[in-house]
Amino acid sequence: MAIIGIMDSGVGGLSVFREIRKALPDERYIYYSDNANCPYGEKTPDFIRDRLRTITDIFLARGAQAAVLACNTATGAAIEVLRSEYSIPFVGMEPAVKPAALGTQSGVIGVLATAGTLKASKYLTTKGHFEDNVRIIEHVGKGFVELVENGELTGPHAENVVRRSLTPLLEEGADRIVLGCTHYPFLLETLRKVASDEGYPDVQFIDPAPAVARRLVNVLKEKGIALKDKNPGVEFLSSGPRENLESLAASI
Ligand code: DGL
Repeated sequence: MAIIGIMDSGVGGLSVFREIRKALPDERYIYYSDNANCPYGEKTPDFIRDRLRTITDIFLARGAQAAVLACNTATGAAIEVLRSEYSIPFVGMEPAVKPAALGTQSGVIGVLATAGTLKASKYLTTKGHFEDNVRIIEHVGKGFVELVENGELTGPHAENVVRRSLTPLLEEGADRIVLGCTHYPFLLETLRKVASDEGYPDVQFIDPAPAVARRLVNVLKEKGIALKDKNPGVEFLSSGPRENLESLAASI
């Protein structure tokens, strides 16, 4: 049986959980939303590492055999430290720069992420592998996390917020946009609408979640963690209010 902990600063990690559950439908999951401390984007790496230790301890107390940091910001700040301090495997987010760089026709790719992710050495290293061949333009998705936490995924206000961060990337010629924060895939309909309204209907948005789910499958196999739990399902935990977590979880 496998018990897998999945965490995010809030509901964003549900975009990753959705893919994990497709790949591994018969396991037992614990999803932890640290929404009392959301957003992580502007928090210090030390603060995020401490939160991740607390969350990992909660997972371990519930028997988790692996943990997924379904949060780019937490991955950038904490995954190396967690791997050195705990014996369970940790799977983190990879910004999808590679598929964007391989797919671009214009030679320009955009990355939308939090300020923390864009500063983290994990992202800077990934970027370094590709920036000789493509132009990489970054923008913080300012206000995106708050929209998703408030369940405001579409409508004129969401479009205005999205337009402010997306338009600069489109105007620079980016034809592939990496969604470098797990909250952002929930804004896909609005991102596509804004891109279309601005005259860029063909731009493609890239979500790394399916690749992370594949990685988890491989890690569980490598570690010999038996699959198919006798008691599959998911337990949702949070450090703050749960209404939006429950309603978004019911919709995925
Ligand atoms: N969903 C998160 C990420 O992937 C964190 C967003 C935030 O809390 O700022 O980066």
